[in-house]
Amino acid sequence: MIKNFTKTGCILLLLALAFAGKSVSAQDDPIDKKVDSVLSKMTLDEKIGQLNQYNGDWEATGPVTKDVGNKLDEIRKGRVGAVLNIMGSAHTKIFQDAAMQSRMKIPLLFGQDVIHGYRITFPIPLAEACSWDTDAIEKAERIAATEAAASGINWTFAPMVDIARDPRWGRVMEGAGEDPYLGSLIAAARVRGFQGNGLGNTDAVMACAKHFAAYGAAIGGRDYNSVDMSLHTLWEYYLPPFKAAADAGVATFMNSFNDLNGTPATGSVYLQREVLKRKWNFKGFVVSDWGSIGEMIPHGYAKDNAEAALIAMTAGNDMDMESRSYINNLAKLVADNKVSFTLIDDAVSRILRKKFEMGLFDDPYRFINPGREKSALNLPENQDAAKDMAHKSMVLLKNDHQILPLSKQLKIVALIGPLVKAKKELKGFWSLDVDKNEDIPSLMDALQKQNPQTQYLFSYGCNINDQSKAGFADAVATAQKAEVVIMAMGEAPDMTGEAKSKSNIHLPGVQEELIKAVVETGKPVVVILMSGRPMIFNWTADHAPAILYAWWLGSQGGNAMADVLYGAYNPSGKLPITFPRTEGQIPIYYNHLNTGRPAASDNDVNYKSAYIDLPNSPKYAFGYGLSYTHFDYVDDEPFYTTTAIKDNENLSISFTLKNTGKYAGEETVQLYIRDLVAQPLRPVKELKDFRKVYLQAGESRRVSFNITRDMLSFYNDNLEYTTQPGEFQVMIGSASDDIRLKRTFELTN
Ligand code: NOJ
Repeated sequence: MIKNFTKTGCILLLLALAFAGKSVSAQDDPIDKKVDSVLSKMTLDEKIGQLNQYNGDWEATGPVTKDVGNKLDEIRKGRVGAVLNIMGSAHTKIFQDAAMQSRMKIPLLFGQDVIHGYRITFPIPLAEACSWDTDAIEKAERIAATEAAASGINWTFAPMVDIARDPRWGRVMEGAGEDPYLGSLIAAARVRGFQGNGLGNTDAVMACAKHFAAYGAAIGGRDYNSVDMSLHTLWEYYLPPFKAAADAGVATFMNSFNDLNGTPATGSVYLQREVLKRKWNFKGFVVSDWGSIGEMIPHGYAKDNAEAALIAMTAGNDMDMESRSYINNLAKLVADNKVSFTLIDDAVSRILRKKFEMGLFDDPYRFINPGREKSALNLPENQDAAKDMAHKSMVLLKNDHQILPLSKQLKIVALIGPLVKAKKELKGFWSLDVDKNEDIPSLMDALQKQNPQTQYLFSYGCNINDQSKAGFADAVATAQKAEVVIMAMGEAPDMTGEAKSKSNIHLPGVQEELIKAVVETGKPVVVILMSGRPMIFNWTADHAPAILYAWWLGSQGGNAMADVLYGAYNPSGKLPITFPRTEGQIPIYYNHLNTGRPAASDNDVNYKSAYIDLPNSPKYAFGYGLSYTHFDYVDDEPFYTTTAIKDNENLSISFTLKNTGKYAGEETVQLYIRDLVAQPLRPVKELKDFRKVYLQAGESRRVSFNITRDMLSFYNDNLEYTTQPGEFQVMIGSASDDIRLKRTFELTN
């Protein structure tokens, strides 16, 4: 159906565009008038130029194309509408100056992957998602936008809102994990953060929801690979965060490298025209991913660049990033009557509209301001926000015998492992090196600064990813001299990110053997794990007394980890993605269907949907994360006021949460729902709401939820979003596999 739309829908589409693009509002909307006025003065070549985006000559985030001569000359000729990877007011000014020398003087857009901070690096997006704190995430993006917008950037290629159920995929680090509900809230928060009080403010940059669509479901977790999924799965799980971004007013979308059910997303009329621009009424523009128009040739979907340009243009891809397909072919396609002026004008108008909305026509240099660049970057209060975000991003996976937090009275602590002294590595992939002199405190720096009374011994132990055990003896000897050992282990920062898929996601090299050697000394060992993805570390999980998953925490990572180790911050992060026991379980996700032969437990394998050599359960489930304190979910009445509701009624439920531990702390109370009988099938549980509740030691609070129709709705076989009457289960818990309260209720007609 998706594919057929490409051919059959074309004529209708052109007609629709001719009318829909210019509605009544065109006469009234002052920006439409301005766009029309500029458009009417442009030549076809200048219009095509607006659809063309080049990488700068500085740094490349994709395979470099060297077929363009002098890019500044191209800009002067009006052949470029946007550039990417050009940062800083000095550098962007050179390019904007060139645009101002073009006949039409249309300002350039400056796009950049501002993924988790600009000058100040925040935790990687997957880590931030562990906070389940949309206000903090919005604030992080606000700061990133403010810094970027003071440095010439007016467009970020973020947020990445791809749902990911496969930790082999290197890009899990860029998203918010596996859940469509949490992912949607975070997608909207990031858009709000980047776009602030709206385009037109000098501290707002255009956001870009990417990669549209289903890129996170690449087969085998291999980057750029094909995606094969039902439309039901697409709508139910993969599209919601994109819809949330669109509803939050995201200015742009980026399509994706993958094909979806046999059609490259870049050439998909269904995704771009039908869903995004028609159903969702998206008024911004769509940029291709790097070279993805031209890549329809190796995909085997287009025979040459001209056909690729025709397909992409028809499908609703407005701007070409780095393929050269539009700039080299569109004029001829128009001359040959294959691409209409209507189609070109629609794409150009969308881009010009954003340039107007940002005020670039009034002042092309409004983001290029050396004074602001000097004063807006790296503010102390923003470093504090980065530390706050880093605190909230860590997940405490294990804490036997409450060995954490550590006592400040400790005299000798051993620091062992290849990441103890990591500095810039803490920034992780997709971070920017805006300040080459940035000095990021390592974990060891931070510990020494915070607790000068403690003596910290250091041993490197082993490298991240080789087989040498030459450092083991020193590590063991160092551990033996200390009261407590802290080990900082993990992946290298460039082991996750684009084109960083792995078939083996175990803690690399001999690190787990080093942990074993150190744990066998009998000393209390705290293992900190840094990575951009869920890793596999079963021996450590089963034997090390304490494990803190720290991901890549950014500029303030060292300080934040030290705070958690000594209890200045009580960890509160909850996993937004499932951690498997082995790669053989992947894809693994909590919101799966039940099957006709569900296993009742991990030992129930006889003629059941199970593995004979492996439990079904994950190592760490979605929503899991410990605190230094303990929370009781008190099953007190009344839990709910009624056990049956009509379709448009809400159901209020409440219970008492009590902090029964010794420390003040924050619990993320999670509400899951299951529709027990439905067609099509519904998952065994789905996150529908959550509350973050901060309680002092001993404090109790009533926690309430309101179950709404939307929480009970799903896409039926006709892809209509609807409810079906019947019995539902409501589950409240501390993690998807730690449900503390469970009830059923009835939805009646
Ligand atoms: C390719 C990546 O897939 C995309 O996310 C990124 O924005 C572009 N390159 C530009 O760097």
